[in-house]
Amino acid sequence: MPITTCVFDAYGTLFDVAAAARQAASEPAFAAIREDWPILAEHWRSKQLQYSWLRAVTGAHEDFWIVTRNGLDWALEKTGHAGDAALRERLLALYWELQAYPEVPAMLAALKQGGLNTAILSNGSPAMLQGAVDSAGIGDLLDVSLSVETVGIFKPDAAVYDLVGKHFGCARDEVLFVSSNGWDAAAATGYGFATAWVNRSGEPMDRLPWTPAHVLTNLTDIPKLTGL
Ligand code: LAC
Repeated sequence: MPITTCVFDAYGTLFDVAAAARQAASEPAFAAIREDWPILAEHWRSKQLQYSWLRAVTGAHEDFWIVTRNGLDWALEKTGHAGDAALRERLLALYWELQAYPEVPAMLAALKQGGLNTAILSNGSPAMLQGAVDSAGIGDLLDVSLSVETVGIFKPDAAVYDLVGKHFGCARDEVLFVSSNGWDAAAATGYGFATAWVNRSGEPMDRLPWTPAHVLTNLTDIPKLTGL
């Protein structure tokens, strides 16, 4: 089937999740993380994702903002910054205004010009996604932001991927699903979407039963993959 619908993961795919720690580290008030912000950002992201999976398999769902705060608190303690309340507050505030990767607006505009449906499908709560979309100024280029909060379970539960077909009324193989998370691109492949894994940092392929159809280093060629 031709691709009619292009669906993007949010955090790490459209929005640069490391931008919050990078930005705080550049501000004089938060010189304490000038050296170790990359490891803080990595622990934060990794715990946030681990908690999302653990909550999904145990049925203990809470929204992604709670999971994001829990991940940050673990990362701050791990890196010796647990007592820095101002840093915590700044990092959390920055998470609501993450930058989009530079190629995102032109890439989305090409998809819209080509008549494709465009959407976000994310663990993020509706309010978090709205904040990120607004601050990146890409709201006009997206038909909808689909949040897992509608189904109350995180990716990669199939109920999340089901949201795409329910919203657009399209078949699975009409969807190109794009994620920077290898596990998300893999699981979406298993679900039946055409998939692209955006591997910006040269990570090894996840050892899972499904392999994404395409592997890219950024989002520039997404319109070509849809046949435009
Ligand atoms: C999301 C996370 C997994 O946006 O990046 O769903």
